[in-house]
Amino acid sequence: MEVKSEVLHYLLDHPEEYVSGVKLGEMIGCSRMAVCKAVASLQKEGYYILSSKKLGYRLQMGFDVLSEAAVEKDLGLSGFSVHVYKELDSTMLEAKRLLSSGAKRPMVIAALKQSGGRGRLGREFFSPEGGVYFSLVLDGSAIGDADLITIAAALGITRAMERLTGIECSIKWVNDVYIRGKKAVGILTEGSMNLEGGGLGDVVIGIGINLKINENDFPPELRDKATSFYPDGESPITRSKVISECTKEILSVIGSDFVDEYRSRCFVIGKNITVVRGSSERDGKAIGVSQRGRLIVQYDNEEFAEISSGEITLKM
Ligand code: BTN
Repeated sequence: MEVKSEVLHYLLDHPEEYVSGVKLGEMIGCSRMAVCKAVASLQKEGYYILSSKKLGYRLQMGFDVLSEAAVEKDLGLSGFSVHVYKELDSTMLEAKRLLSSGAKRPMVIAALKQSGGRGRLGREFFSPEGGVYFSLVLDGSAIGDADLITIAAALGITRAMERLTGIECSIKWVNDVYIRGKKAVGILTEGSMNLEGGGLGDVVIGIGINLKINENDFPPELRDKATSFYPDGESPITRSKVISECTKEILSVIGSDFVDEYRSRCFVIGKNITVVRGSSERDGKAIGVSQRGRLIVQYDNEEFAEISSGEITLKM
């Protein structure tokens, strides 16, 4: 582990306590100067670390700093590489750039904000500071079915966000997470084929969570549809905790039998809907979700269909 990460791990484990540079250096196995450099770099990232000649260093808590070291610590999973940026065009694009330069999965790629956040169906995803934007790069061969990955991600996030915030979350098929009747999380899953062995290769799950975006900051066209977990802009939970808890929960959902729980949280079942595919629209009723995560629809002409792509809207 890098000296900076080791220093941060120690300070986070001993918040609001002074520790000398000499003691930190001895514990980590580096010089006092290396500790001093690491502290300066952490301060630059936004950590509020007091430094006293007599007493050493002390971390002030209560600040939401998103850094690689913080995510690594909260995640606690060895073998995961973590990349955090102040700003990106899109974490999906960065995931692809990292993969093509030889980076190895599993990976977490996060950004404080995105200038070109991408949504489903070629849409833009509103990504100002205050949201949590990350892509998870996993080995698709361990998962098998692309449709199921998407619903596993929605369920994992629902479980993690409910636990962290105490706010009830439900899912609009296929993978939008709703709170208080509005969308608070969007998920975009992209995968590549394994050309040698067949099946899925890399899977990139992109997750955008409106954590503490002030409600007045949403553009007018989104205000009726989207909301934030903390619409006043103050969150008691750090973005690092959100990323790591959602990641761990998604991994645990993927390894389990989860379709029944997904069904129970999917609020469109039993509702009248319109299925939108490009420019075509068909009215019907959502009857259920299949074992493969597809939405079972009975159209108004009595025909049944299982759909795995496109979009649905609820009919009032
Ligand atoms: C949707 O609701 O249409 C899906 C939105 C997915 C947004 C996330 S934010 C992190 C990742 N990077 C992107 O550019 N998009 C996904």
